[in-house]
Amino acid sequence: MKATAKAHTNIALIKYWGKRNEALILPTNNSLSITLDGFYSTTSVEFKEELTGDRFLLDDIAVEGEQFQRVTTFLDLVRDLAGKELFAEVASINAVPTAAGFASSASGFAALAAASSKAIGLNLSETELSRLTRQGSGSACRSVFGGFAEWQKGEEEDGSDSYAVPIAPQEHWDIRVAAVVLSSKMKKVSSRAGMRRTVETSPFFKGWVESIPQDLEVIKDGINNKDFEKVGAIAEANCLKMHATTLGANPPFTYWLDTTVSVMQTVQQLRDSGIPAYFTIDAGPNVKVLYLPEHEEKVQETLRTIPGVSDVKLSRVGQGISYLEDEKFV
Ligand code: DP6
Repeated sequence: MKATAKAHTNIALIKYWGKRNEALILPTNNSLSITLDGFYSTTSVEFKEELTGDRFLLDDIAVEGEQFQRVTTFLDLVRDLAGKELFAEVASINAVPTAAGFASSASGFAALAAASSKAIGLNLSETELSRLTRQGSGSACRSVFGGFAEWQKGEEEDGSDSYAVPIAPQEHWDIRVAAVVLSSKMKKVSSRAGMRRTVETSPFFKGWVESIPQDLEVIKDGINNKDFEKVGAIAEANCLKMHATTLGANPPFTYWLDTTVSVMQTVQQLRDSGIPAYFTIDAGPNVKVLYLPEHEEKVQETLRTIPGVSDVKLSRVGQGISYLEDEKFV
């Protein structure tokens, strides 16, 4: 009863920020992302009769505490669905810098959901897999699909209609994302805690939620017509709105560092010099920059020379979940 799956992380252009149900991970708004080929997790799951508890190795190191708890709680869902009471050995390799705004939880939980459901003998459709993945980490439900995906928040209280759907496949459009790494340190306020505080205390939260349907309409039209400036402008504006909600929270907080703002300003200067480039930022200090293939060299060179930038990692649009047959993986 073993399976191995690979899932890529995703970057939201229209952000998920706020839950209506914490236990089931049901969001207050739809979100839309690009799956990235450069950052991924590969996870093997084996259910074994002889185990007396779950085991979780991340990058070859045994994990305990809160991270382990999230994995084992997720495996309980899989066991419940399958009606089997078997413990599992989970081994995951992350090609994503953990917890620095690179959503390693997205690729991690998508790979875990795919590998564990397959290993235990569930034969889930992509929709069912996305719905299950959502309960590990919300943003992860979009990583089931390659290309562009939208997570539909759904209306039902039990979350049965809250899952991602594909918007456009990987080959639809070759746009690029540069991940600008400023700090690989663990972030201070997790996305989970940050969005909770925002929902509970920020007077800006209501305005954020109300603005989403319009943003989604514009971005979907832009993706459809491959209108880069339309997509970039709305993604950047949506990111700024999300981050504005954190400044209104009590106590207020921000994920930005001084270098985060420098990168944002440099991207705006690139645009002033005629190069269409747009930024987006998740719940961490690092910035992701959207650009077109013909501007790769200039964009990369410009970002690398900003003081405080430690690395720039380039990525194309990536693929959805895949299953690896090999017993061994890297
Ligand atoms: C800012 O998916 O990490 O990256 O559902 O609590 O696990 P949980 O949160 P998570 O939040 C991601 C928030 C975001 C925006 C996004 O990816 O849409």
